[in-house]
Amino acid sequence: MTTAPATFVKGLEGIIAAQTEMSYIDGVQGVLEYVGIAIGDLAKHSTFEETVFLLWNKRLPTKGELESFTKQLRANYALPEGMIERVRSVPTSAEPMHMLRTMVSALSMHDASPNENSVEAARVKALKILGCTPAIVAAFDRHRRGLEPVAPDTSLGFSANFLYMLNGEKPTEAMTRAFDICMITHADHGLNNSTFTARVVISTLSDMYSAITAAIGSLRGPLHGGANEGVMKMLNEIPSVDAVEQYVMDKLARKERIMGFGHRVYKAKDPRAAELMTLAEQLARDTGNMDLYTKSKAIEKIMEREVGSKGIYPNVDFYSATTYHCIGLKLDLFTPMFALSRIAGWSGHVIEQLGDNRLFRPKAEYVGPHNVAYTPMDNR
Ligand code: CMC
Repeated sequence: MTTAPATFVKGLEGIIAAQTEMSYIDGVQGVLEYVGIAIGDLAKHSTFEETVFLLWNKRLPTKGELESFTKQLRANYALPEGMIERVRSVPTSAEPMHMLRTMVSALSMHDASPNENSVEAARVKALKILGCTPAIVAAFDRHRRGLEPVAPDTSLGFSANFLYMLNGEKPTEAMTRAFDICMITHADHGLNNSTFTARVVISTLSDMYSAITAAIGSLRGPLHGGANEGVMKMLNEIPSVDAVEQYVMDKLARKERIMGFGHRVYKAKDPRAAELMTLAEQLARDTGNMDLYTKSKAIEKIMEREVGSKGIYPNVDFYSATTYHCIGLKLDLFTPMFALSRIAGWSGHVIEQLGDNRLFRPKAEYVGPHNVAYTPMDNR
């Protein structure tokens, strides 16, 4: 019998609850590596498809392996029969994250063996979910705009195909590359809340769909992936760069959080924020959105002055907001974009968990009363 350390740690801060070979974070130095490769190098040289191969296989592919993996992913772009009707049945007022969570759950009903949990079967399901969720998001956005869905184009890569299905026209190379960099930088990140959720769910030997569905539910929270939408709302609320100082100082005085800042693990600037900052600047310049970038830079400067000593710096969500806006995405599609990419990480973790599973079952410290006499109803 094993006994766990009997100390309560709020929010499980610093607790090591799983082992992974996928991503490494040094929160003090501001380092993120996927399978040992710096995120900056992947953002510069890799593609989303290659990055997913790396995460799932723990090594870079050869040319032939990448071609074959890409082909398999493209073979999963199309939605299973009947799914478009499900998307069409969603109220147009629904939030895309609620829609996505429900539709990924529904995918399980289109799988002849949804409960198969061998590592091989989990990989097939991972490819399926990763491959077709862009079609779900694109079809829903078109549905609420009163437009017909656009069938996927299997001659296009993951990022170009998504933007094509969303807009009905092929994206420029610059937009495709920008979106691909967003997908690469969001793909995996240690045992973040949604990844932990996915691992907890699969540890009961439930199924891949349940694990990813639960992870989507976790991601949408404003303290997690939902922060990117919060950042955009804040940038829209601030009328000009001159108003930034007052806005930030008022919020801090009210003890409110500035979205896109702070992180449980990073106490330095999130390296993904550094990558996305460069991208946001370039896109803002190219698309006439420099006001968003200059406001963001001003917020960052004030936050560093005011709370930098507490280790609060921009996280991945801060500059991704400007980046997504410049790519032409609607505000409520920002968090679904995070999900499209993080499915790679979640499913990779599910596969790792299945490869060496033990049920997650921590304990709660009981802090209520004992030996309380039962009071009959009439005496309460
Ligand atoms: N703005 C202002 N103050 C902050 C912020 C912020 N964004 N984040 C933390 N603090 C302060 C907090 O008030 C506290 O101060 P004090 O010690 O004086 O009371 C101190 O920093 C520590 O805060 P904490 O809540 O104990 O830190 P945590 O590790 O529990 O929270 C966090 C991490 C990400 C939830 C938090 O930083 C936050 O709420 N940030 C805003 C939301 C956000 O951007 N989330 C995205 C996270 S990264 C991407 C992802 O995972 O999806």
